[in-house]
Amino acid sequence: MNVFLKLSSALVVGTLLHASSASAASPGAVEHGSYLVNTILACGNCHTPKAADGRPIAGKELSGGGLSFNAPFFAGTASNITPDKETGIGNWSNDEIKRAITQGARPDHGRLANMPLAPVMWVAFYKAMTPGDLDAVVAYLRAVQPVRNVVPLPEYKRQIPRQPYPDAEKGFTEADMLNPVRRGAYLATIGHCMECHTPFKDGKTLYEQALGKGGKPYGPDLVKGYPADWPGSISRNITSHPEAGIGRWTDAEIKRAITQGVARDGQQLQPPMGFYWYSGLKEADLDAIVAWLRTVPPAE
Ligand code: HEC
Ligand code: HEC
Repeated sequence: MNVFLKLSSALVVGTLLHASSASAASPGAVEHGSYLVNTILACGNCHTPKAADGRPIAGKELSGGGLSFNAPFFAGTASNITPDKETGIGNWSNDEIKRAITQGARPDHGRLANMPLAPVMWVAFYKAMTPGDLDAVVAYLRAVQPVRNVVPLPEYKRQIPRQPYPDAEKGFTEADMLNPVRRGAYLATIGHCMECHTPFKDGKTLYEQALGKGGKPYGPDLVKGYPADWPGSISRNITSHPEAGIGRWTDAEIKRAITQGVARDGQQLQPPMGFYWYSGLKEADLDAIVAWLRTVPPAE
């Protein structure tokens, strides 16, 4: 089994804050941003370099090169998003960082100026972040340790449109955060669960027709950065369908799958799902995600 999946969340959450640059934002915002980035958003799943066993390398958080992609439209590597001025995003303003995360736009200066981010950055989901959460994420990104790490330039093979995600388009309010099902929908949106868990056909993800039905394949030909023995995986049906989905699973079984990568039958689940990061989710947030999953219409 992969060591990557066995690590405790304590190692991930809130490691290595760069105290001096954190001064601009309130400690509460940095802490909240750390929680979001290191749990549900799992930015480090792509942006933190991994050792040969799949473990994120301590001291290199978010410094780029964690995962590389080789898709028909794009070949490239997750960027260095630490505050290093030369190789990271240290020269970007808060608004520029927000535009990258929620619109996929790069600033008009620096490396790859004005070049839109490849759609492997799931901005159609991240745009759902509430203003407070987005501020907190930016405050945290500014507070992490700057790491010098040059990431190879990407190759854009062809432009493909970003597909909107219905719940992100409808948006969420602060009041939604108090309703477990709505909060769960929010967390599942910013965590882009359904991007992976919904079938992709003829260039489109079937959000309206088959939300959560699974069947999307991930393998070493598409994604590099996981251990050499990573067999790849195919996303599963997480709708409320009693047989094909997780309708008959207990809450505890669903939470164990999300946070430990253990299927109902005890089988070990494989990346790319970010179990390692999700293990740091608060119990109430996990409960909210489960409450929302129970409302996803059955599909088989
Ligand atoms: C599925 C993998 C993946 C996840 C998850 C992910 N990113 Fe990215 N990100 C990328 C890739 C790949 C690029 C480079 C895209 C390109 O070169 O066009 C990128 C680029 C960026 C950039 C632009 C940096 C630059 O120098 O141009 C920022 C900022 C960023 N990501 C922030 C984030 C944040 C914050 C999160 C978590 C909310 C996140 N990313 C989650 C893959 C990911
Ligand atoms: C990057 C893609 C990706 C993301 C994001 C993702 N998953 Fe998964 N998930 C998968 C894959 C692939 C599997 C199957 C792994 C395997 O078979 O080894 C899986 C398995 C599961 C399982 C186990 C189902 C079963 O039948 O064993 C559950 C439950 C689950 N995911 C829920 C979620 C939830 C909830 C989220 C969002 C918080 C999420 N996933 C985010 C790709 C993803």
